[in-house]
Amino acid sequence: MTADAAPVDWDALREAARDAMSRAYAPYSGYPVGVAALVDDGRMITGCNVENASYGIGLCAECGLVSQLAATGGGRLTHFTCVDGAGAVLVPCGRCRQLLYEFGGPGLVLETPEGLRTLDEMLPQAFGPQNLG
Ligand code: THU
Repeated sequence: MTADAAPVDWDALREAARDAMSRAYAPYSGYPVGVAALVDDGRMITGCNVENASYGIGLCAECGLVSQLAATGGGRLTHFTCVDGAGAVLVPCGRCRQLLYEFGGPGLVLETPEGLRTLDEMLPQAFGPQNLG
């Protein structure tokens, strides 16, 4: 039997997301977003949205997060939170749930306005790497 993992400090994770949100580049929507996640090796990573004058190519905060995940050594996402410009917990958009699925799988735990949820609950019957064989 393995020892229980240390409890997750959701307050610290949310603060990291708020800090990232404070550096978002969102001049077109006026809707800054910040995200933070824990990696299975204990790292904490973050991201913020980065918009573009060509509106459709703006990057969600989760894009920055998964890039930082890869750039700092990879691994699996275990816990995730997302905040809006007021610092309130926000659900990730549908496309970003798919981004999270790639690196966290169905068991990734998300903080939502309605409490903690697994990604499997937020993105049921997900298409993923398992479908490609
Ligand atoms: N946004 C994110 O960064 N992540 C989400 O999960 C929801 C939406 C951004 C995209 C855009 O820059 C702004 O929020 C308004 O949609």
